[in-house]
Amino acid sequence: MRIGVLTSGGDCPGLNAVIRSVVHRAVVDHGDEVIGFHDGWKGLLEADYRKLDLDAVAGILARGGTILGSSRVQPAHLVDGVERAKGHVAELGLDAIIPIGGEGTLKAANLLAQAGLPIVGVPKTIDNDIASTDVTFGFDTAVGVATEALDRLKTTAESHQRVLIVEVMGRHTGWIALHSGMAAGAHAIVVPERPFDIEELAGRVGARFEAGKRFAIVVVAEGAKPREGSMEFDEGGKDMYGHERFAGVARQLSVELEERLGKEARPVILGHVQRGGTPTAYDRVLATRFGWHAVEAAHRGEFGMMTALRGTDITMVPLAQAVETLKTVPQERYEEAETVL
Ligand code: F6P
Repeated sequence: MRIGVLTSGGDCPGLNAVIRSVVHRAVVDHGDEVIGFHDGWKGLLEADYRKLDLDAVAGILARGGTILGSSRVQPAHLVDGVERAKGHVAELGLDAIIPIGGEGTLKAANLLAQAGLPIVGVPKTIDNDIASTDVTFGFDTAVGVATEALDRLKTTAESHQRVLIVEVMGRHTGWIALHSGMAAGAHAIVVPERPFDIEELAGRVGARFEAGKRFAIVVVAEGAKPREGSMEFDEGGKDMYGHERFAGVARQLSVELEERLGKEARPVILGHVQRGGTPTAYDRVLATRFGWHAVEAAHRGEFGMMTALRGTDITMVPLAQAVETLKTVPQERYEEAETVL
């Protein structure tokens, strides 16, 4: 079998572990040949690739990022994108393509699968918002980074009697905010799933100071928005690929909270630090299992499918189903967290 692998969309700790696992399972156990496309779908569209053998993936398990490079280019961005991809798959004699990516990448994977290409998707994102899989690798690492940052921020917030509003990633969902906020014992968690009321938030933070506490930590997901009419809010715009370019919810919250509470407030934006660096052991294991099962699915001819974690098992789910909706933070998970804030 000849397999092509690529990593597309925002990078994520654990991508290299998947690539390594695909190569090991395919080359060692099945005698396959594996090629890696450079910079995501762009590599497939331009037939820009290299051969991946055991030497090529040696020593990459613990490395963050992706040895193949990534980009946000998608076949649908080009008029002849799908046809071009099909042409290169035929020319290169590929029997399977394993794209590793998040929401946008999996939508593109589904499109190509519907067009008849032999695709087995692997979900990734630090945001943990892919439906049909209990967890995506990268999330555990990102939550660890955010939790450590929150722990550290508590000491400086206390020294200065400040409110620190810490913005974590999460365009559409608040999983990183919820988990890091719970793990670090934040005092308010603000997620996109529940538009916030600025007075209510100020009331919650203010009550802490009234109770004699010296500081407060608010964790906010970058995609969070106020309730309609609650405060003036700049949502930002879109980048060249149609992705949100946020104006900065933490910055805007710091102004509003400082004004209402008469306490110094500072925004802290964790940004891409949450995506960089070495993956946790959990993420390495999940990524490795996804890679192994993607190769197996390819050998069974199960195309148009995606690897998924269900409980402790890896299963295959249809790509079309996986891209239908996002996995949002359920109300009950938010309530569990609220009790201990
Ligand atoms: O999709 C993962 C993610 O980390 C989002 O949480 C974030 O909004 C986005 O990527 C940032 O992407 P970029 O690297 O293009 O700025």
